[in-house]
Amino acid sequence: MAHTIVTIVGSLRKEAFSLKVANAMAKLSPSSLKLDVTTLGGISFFNQDLEANPPADWLSFREKIQKSDGVLFVTPEYNRSIPGVLKNAIDVASRPYGRSSFLGKPTGIVSNSPGALGGVAAAKHLQNILPGISGPILGQPEIYLNGIGDAFNDKGELVKEPVQKVLQQYLEAYAGFVEKWNGGI
Ligand SMILES: Cc1cc2nc3c(=O)[nH]c(=O)nc-3n(C[C@H](O)[C@H](O)[C@H](O)COP(=O)(O)O)c2cc1C
Repeated sequence: MAHTIVTIVGSLRKEAFSLKVANAMAKLSPSSLKLDVTTLGGISFFNQDLEANPPADWLSFREKIQKSDGVLFVTPEYNRSIPGVLKNAIDVASRPYGRSSFLGKPTGIVSNSPGALGGVAAAKHLQNILPGISGPILGQPEIYLNGIGDAFNDKGELVKEPVQKVLQQYLEAYAGFVEKWNGGI
């Protein structure tokens, strides 16, 4: 059976490149992985007052991550960091204190941007945020997808070959990492 990977999309935009990257990764992933592309529109704002009686959307998001075999973040960069909607979702799943849903999950970070820097600052911020609340984070290879604006056709299919290739390489490395941390299929 394939390992289920919750693939969290850091943008709410309908035509988001991040969503298209996540969908392309789901298609390109090796058969040992099943990417569950997850958008964050339904997750309410984190509010510590609600922790005693959490909203249903928090609970189902946490449960989805807990049941997974790994987590992939596919995110754009907003003002040299991650979008607020992604930080909110991370805060939601990081609680209750000491029982983060991300704990033990082999984690991958994929940033992208139409610009020249590929969202590297967002990826680096995730590397700051996650270690205390996540599982192991894949360090190599690094992946910052620049020039993503012309990578897809009108149907949202990935047509830029160098991007396909780099995603495939990344997914192979990530599949090996997941295998290692889940002790084989
Ligand atoms: C509020 C905001 C801030 C942004 N800041 C950055 C940035 O710091 N670096 C960058 O490369 N692009 C930045 N952009 C441009 C985004 O990369 C671009 O809008 C991208 O398409 C958003 O990702 P998405 O297509 O997945 O929604 C910013 C866009 C917005 C709306």
